Amino acid sequence: VGERFVSAPGKAILHGEHAVVHGKVALAVSLNLRTYLRLQGTASGQICIHLPNIDTFRAWDVAALQPLVSDRKGGTSLVERLRAFAGVAEGSTDSGNMAVLAFLYLYLSGFAGEELTLINKWAFQGEKIIHGNPSGVDNAVATWGGILRYHAGKITPLSRVPLLRILLTNTKVPRSTKLLVSGVKDKINKFPSIMVPVLESVDAVSRTCELTLREMATAGASAQQYDTLEELMDINQHHLSVMGVGHPALDTLCRLTLAHGLHSKLTGAGGGGCGITLLRPGNTTHPHHTPVLHTSSVRSAGISEHTSLSL
Ligand code: MEV
Repeated sequence: VGERFVSAPGKAILHGEHAVVHGKVALAVSLNLRTYLRLQGTASGQICIHLPNIDTFRAWDVAALQPLVSDRKGGTSLVERLRAFAGVAEGSTDSGNMAVLAFLYLYLSGFAGEELTLINKWAFQGEKIIHGNPSGVDNAVATWGGILRYHAGKITPLSRVPLLRILLTNTKVPRSTKLLVSGVKDKINKFPSIMVPVLESVDAVSRTCELTLREMATAGASAQQYDTLEELMDINQHHLSVMGVGHPALDTLCRLTLAHGLHSKLTGAGGGGCGITLLRPGNTTHPHHTPVLHTSSVRSAGISEHTSLSL
């Protein structure tokens, strides 16, 4: 087997998290932060994987992987057999999950090449194992990179969008995507006449954001368009709080950044996790908080740079 490396980009959801699980539009971008995986075969017949970002190391006898070889298409029985492997990524990022499944694909295919559709399908199965009822947006953006619109399983890459800069903040509050997704479902079931319009409104936020980004790319970005993007972030953040996926740490992020004239929202599952803050072209970040991240390696057309800040 020798030694191989695979990696997958992290992602941020601009708009549409949670609503996307219920068939609404989401806009997602890949980031220039990646999860790396090293695969190594040993002379004693073991296969080892190492995910340095999440400090995970696992080794299996090659013979134990052989049953997987019989089903390479990602069917339901394969999901059961992958359960042990997906366990590696439990509690980790979606991109970690992606990388484990990419490894499995590479191993089983004898490194024959890159088939992104198959990798995406496998990653989706991993998502199902980890959080039960995923929309598929996370594995799609981690597989294809760039900025994309995701709607009911349909992936539309957005090629003409302006370069945006965001501040990515990790609240370091742990949360379970599975519990948050099922909590939103319970709320919709309990208050359909209240929650369905909220989901419709989030859908309209995503569509308005997409339209604004397309206009910005065509006619050049204006201050008014940045105002619109900021207002959309505020509206969506409130909707997400109504869905029950806010957290005091995310409220702190919104309050602190607003004190500096910047607008933020949670990104992804919420309940802690990460938040994003839109930076305007003139905004600079404090050098102490700017471990800037290989902008040259950005695959995304949408995000040119992001910085990290811990609350
Ligand atoms: C998590 O990154 C995004 C959610 O919408 C879940 C999903 O789409 O599967 C909360």
